[in-house]
Amino acid sequence: MVKLTEIARAIRTSKIWKSIFRHTYQDTPRNRALMILSNVFLHLHPVKVRPASLRFRYTWGLGGLSFYLFLLLTVSGVLLMFYYRPTVEHAYWDMKDLRFAVSFGPFMRNIHRWAAHLMVFLVMFHMASVFYRSAYKPPREYNWVVGVILLLITFLLSFTGYLLPWDQLAIWAVTVGTNMAANAPILGSEGPFSIVTPDNDARFILLGSKLVGQSGLLRFYVLHCVLLPLAFIIFVSVHFWRVRKDEFSAVPLPPAEERRKGVRPEEWLKKNPQALQEKVFTWPNLVSREFVAALAITAILTLWSVLAHAPLEGLADPNKTPNPSKAPWYFVGLQELLVYFDPWLAGVVLPTMILVGLMAIPYLDSNPLGVGYYNFRDRKFSVGMFTYGFTLWFVLIFIGYYMRGPGWEIFMPWEPWDHFRPTSQIGLHNMPNGLGLLFLAGYGGLGLILPKFLFKDFYKTMGPIKYLIVMVFVLGMFFVPAKIILRNFFKIKYIVSFPDFSFNL
Ligand code: HEM
Repeated sequence: MVKLTEIARAIRTSKIWKSIFRHTYQDTPRNRALMILSNVFLHLHPVKVRPASLRFRYTWGLGGLSFYLFLLLTVSGVLLMFYYRPTVEHAYWDMKDLRFAVSFGPFMRNIHRWAAHLMVFLVMFHMASVFYRSAYKPPREYNWVVGVILLLITFLLSFTGYLLPWDQLAIWAVTVGTNMAANAPILGSEGPFSIVTPDNDARFILLGSKLVGQSGLLRFYVLHCVLLPLAFIIFVSVHFWRVRKDEFSAVPLPPAEERRKGVRPEEWLKKNPQALQEKVFTWPNLVSREFVAALAITAILTLWSVLAHAPLEGLADPNKTPNPSKAPWYFVGLQELLVYFDPWLAGVVLPTMILVGLMAIPYLDSNPLGVGYYNFRDRKFSVGMFTYGFTLWFVLIFIGYYMRGPGWEIFMPWEPWDHFRPTSQIGLHNMPNGLGLLFLAGYGGLGLILPKFLFKDFYKTMGPIKYLIVMVFVLGMFFVPAKIILRNFFKIKYIVSFPDFSFNL
């Protein structure tokens, strides 16, 4: 059997190879450093990293893969731009041409579509992985905030791309999304305390019109192809710069037998500070791993794009509303909340609270333990709350995506959609406002007071102000299943209802 190393040596010593690569690479420490330092792309990395950063199960490669997908999306997106015209007349037919007339058109479109979904998914899980290894704690708090901004930009990039095929799926998903903007307090014409009209409110700014039409398509195209990618590049540059300045958070773990004895990494590192100084060269250790991860995801996407076509429904028809009309999957959780809350709450207040709450995590979490490795024992409260919120988000997405049928009624995934089924809204009633206010006061009061007495240490380490802020977010999160139960099991639509002020809870 010929060995692979012999084949590689034969290639490297061949005349053709030598005619291209004039100098042979000597594997010396100096050259390993130079490979990183003298390459404009690679010098995003440090020359050396701690061996702990190489463990795949530490980051799951999720940050790097998210960025790689962004690059792939940029390349495939620019290729698509050669064929696509953002006009109501042409957009849909250009999609058809891409599917049936352009060489490699379907592959290009499929890769762009599936990579976009995958990127949204990976960015969410990168955030979760950063959270679970406490990598948002000092000195990385600010980079976590930059990350949340990147998460928002990723959602918006994907959402603005959704409209471009100009099919039924596109315009109705975007109609659902942009109607939420019309419900914004103050700046939405249908929201509470509105100071605007449908001709100049937040939805109008997004669409250049009251309805999804030509001006909306052009705006979404410019946002999708120019403004949002530029914003992404700016924020991701800051993100990488901070990762570089703050160093990767990974820390060496105590040897296995010490871990079995229950020795904690923090204690062990205090006794063995030299372990933190041990480093290996980024070239080839980290770079080769990144290369393999990129190859693997490229292979998965290639296979996915060969086997499955990106959806394209009938030509957009503003007069034919599909029932149900669903937002893109990552926003379907918010659409699901519309069943339980007024649109201004579900579409504007809750998403804002989620984003602000995420950004506030590093500043609210005062527990210094666990940076650089997965640690649940010392972070029961924060890990519990994050896992709860993250799971709730996906449960709502699952219900909205797989279980909602005509009239936004619940259907089991295996049940056929019966368009004539009696609506579940029959029999819904509001709690009398007096009782509702009492219920809210009880929920808020008990929710604030009980944990203070049950978990005295927790309250003491937080202090009153942080405690209050944390509990507002926690009670907000638990309010969602409370409303789901009240509506589905007790037929209560609103706990309090003041329609004159558009305040229904
Ligand atoms: C498209 C968006 C994003 C890209 C391309 C990206 C990319 C990266 C990369 C390549 C790293 C270094 C390797 C790693 O830890 O995986 C990293 C680290 C980090 N990211 Fe992101 N990221 C994105 C979004 C986010 C989000 C949504 C958050 C949190 C809300 C976040 C927070 C962080 C933090 C705190 C670190 C430092 C982790 C450490 O040192 O262990 N990033 N990111």
